Amino acid sequence: MRARCAVMMAYYRLLIFLLPVMFYLTTAIDYTNGSPHIGHAYEKVLADVITRYRRLRGDEAFFLTGVDQHGQKVQQTAEKEGVSPDVFVKRTTRKFLDLWEKLGVQYDGWAETTDQRHKDCVQSILLMLKQQGQLYKSAHSGHYSVRQEQFLSDRDRDAAGNFGPEWGEVVVIEEENWYFKLSEHTAWLKSYLEGTPDAVLPVFRKAELLNAIERNSGTDLCISRPKERLHWGIEFPGDPDYVTYVWFDALINYISFAGYHAAPDAGLPDFTRLWTSDERPVHIIGKDILVPAHGIYWLCMLHAIGFSNEEMPRLLVHGWWNLRGEKMSKSIGNSVDPHELAETFGTEALRYYLVRDIATGKDSDFDAERLVMLYNTELANELGNLCNRALNMSQRFTAGVLHRGGAFTEDDLALQTSLTQSTTAYRDAMDDFDISKALEALNRHVAHCNGYAERMKPWELNKNLENQDRLATVLYHLAESVAHAAVLLSPVLPAAAAQLAAQLELPTLAHLKLPDLRWGLLPDAHLIGKPMPVFPKILLEKPA
Ligand code: ME8
Ligand code: MG
Repeated sequence: MRARCAVMMAYYRLLIFLLPVMFYLTTAIDYTNGSPHIGHAYEKVLADVITRYRRLRGDEAFFLTGVDQHGQKVQQTAEKEGVSPDVFVKRTTRKFLDLWEKLGVQYDGWAETTDQRHKDCVQSILLMLKQQGQLYKSAHSGHYSVRQEQFLSDRDRDAAGNFGPEWGEVVVIEEENWYFKLSEHTAWLKSYLEGTPDAVLPVFRKAELLNAIERNSGTDLCISRPKERLHWGIEFPGDPDYVTYVWFDALINYISFAGYHAAPDAGLPDFTRLWTSDERPVHIIGKDILVPAHGIYWLCMLHAIGFSNEEMPRLLVHGWWNLRGEKMSKSIGNSVDPHELAETFGTEALRYYLVRDIATGKDSDFDAERLVMLYNTELANELGNLCNRALNMSQRFTAGVLHRGGAFTEDDLALQTSLTQSTTAYRDAMDDFDISKALEALNRHVAHCNGYAERMKPWELNKNLENQDRLATVLYHLAESVAHAAVLLSPVLPAAAAQLAAQLELPTLAHLKLPDLRWGLLPDAHLIGKPMPVFPKILLEKPA
């Protein structure tokens, strides 16, 4: 029996070892009350880069994103535009879908909250919580902002104790609604957050969240709206005069489209496999929706539904892109259209900028001039120069044939070390979701290669037949570095990486995983293809 147990254990271990870590990633869904902006584009590109990176690591990954289609804002905007909410929602959703396609954002699951499967899931959760005594109906009388369509509390008063002009007309009304016993979960939430180092990333956001919990404790969450003032929502089960509050509905997308409570033939993933994999899911959200939506409501909702601490998602909170130091908004007429930016500068230039000029978690200022500057210096000049040297000179000096060479000099060995160090730093930064730092690490190696080329002067070596071996070794070092760079860049610039692999005549690069990256990707006597510039410089027309 014991022996059999041991065999079983060994077998089990082997299984665990062989199974890739499943990585489930979701990003906040966007309000469909307008057009996607640069902040939306950033969030989706960030998620796409992380997903592609996790696959490069050898992990299995699932990327879910979508659109949050219900609620007051949608209903109001549709009314203003003179269309029904469902027509409006379809039209707006199309704009988001088009942008993700344009930006090369490849998701595995698409969440639309008007989808029947989602509605069924929300209603079944509400019923379950009701049966468990987690919901109650109660009348609330208080100050209500007609313009913002919400009840106000004393926290909304200004320094003088009044409700400021931003609230418009404020009336006292009494209304019956459904409440979720949020207050019963806040003690758990505090202890969960305090005991879980990676509950919220980056860590400085956790302090902000804990402070907010302190301020909000003792209040329950109103999760219904009477249909007479909001009809565009999911009907409250058993109470047809009400719809579900939009956040309670939208947050559930993270599990409904992951297959929670879904019929086996619903065309959704297997929830248990997806959500309760080796690694806890990551939700990518902007800093404005941590408190209270994700950090308080969502985690408490999951706790009430019965999720354990080990099943709680990690919240990766990114910062905001601002414009000239100011919040981006349509009203001040300074929003930038990501579609137009991709048209003007190219998809890959925009993808590069969006993850390069911001540290994950921090804010940054969107600046098209910096986009051009960073692309031109880091890609067109530095990396472009390396590719040009490696591929063009090999074509011209050695008829496109690369020889591994031998008898490495100190310079050769230093280049090999630089590559190993850059790859390690890249990997560490990517594991921390810090894309910008990872790209810096890669760029350090590219700069090292260009310095090496300038010192080795292959163009001089080519002048003398006696130097042929040395010339081959130098060119091999440059071309091998391009092969590695193509792999490391692929999560951020998939199209450029594919072009480089094609020019190197190395289709296997597309299937390599990080652990496969070692010196010698290019076989000895390998024949490369026709070199073509992959990173043409962006030339801006000078204003007349
Ligand atoms: O919040 N820079 O939708 P949303 C970076 N429907 N990110 C930004 C940004 C900016 N300037 N502006 C917005 C919602 N974002 C809800 C989500 S989740 C169940 C429901 C981010 O369109 C924002 O932080 O207002 C959020 O993560 C996402 O874009 C969608 O924002
Ligand atoms: Mg918002």
